[in-house]
Amino acid sequence: MGTVYVYRRAHFSASHRLFDPALTNDQNDELFGGCSNPNGHGHNYFIEVCVAGIPAAATGFVIDLKKVKQVLADRFLNKVDHKNLNVDVDFLSGINPTTENIAVAAWNQIEPFITEGKLYSIRLYETENNFVEYKGV
Ligand code: NI
Repeated sequence: MGTVYVYRRAHFSASHRLFDPALTNDQNDELFGGCSNPNGHGHNYFIEVCVAGIPAAATGFVIDLKKVKQVLADRFLNKVDHKNLNVDVDFLSGINPTTENIAVAAWNQIEPFITEGKLYSIRLYETENNFVEYKGV
C-alpha cells in the first residue's frame, strides 16, 4: 500500500498588523496595505493539517484524526483564536505575522506531537483566495 494523506481542517479568527519597524507608516502601508492598519485588523483563517503515512493494519488509520484535532487545538488554535497575533501569542513573539510566518510557526508547534505518520504539510488560508503551504523544508 502507498502513502495516504489525511487532513484536519479548522477555523480561527485573529487580528494582526504587518509591520516593519525599520519603515515609516507610509512605507509599511505601501508594502503591507490593509494588513498594516495601525490598530490592526482581523481575518477569518482556516488551517489544514496533513499527516502522511501508511495505514496501520490493525486500525486502518494513518493517525487517529481525534489526536490531530486535539494537538491542533492544544498547541495552536487555543493560543491564537480571537487573539492579537502581534502581542498575545508566545510562539509568535517578535515575528511579523504574515500567513507564511504563521504557517511555519504552526508547523513548529504541532510537528513534535504528531507521533503516528509524519506531518506532511500545513496549509493556512488568510482569505478564501490567499493561502500558503509549508512542508517543513
Ligand atoms: Ni491582514
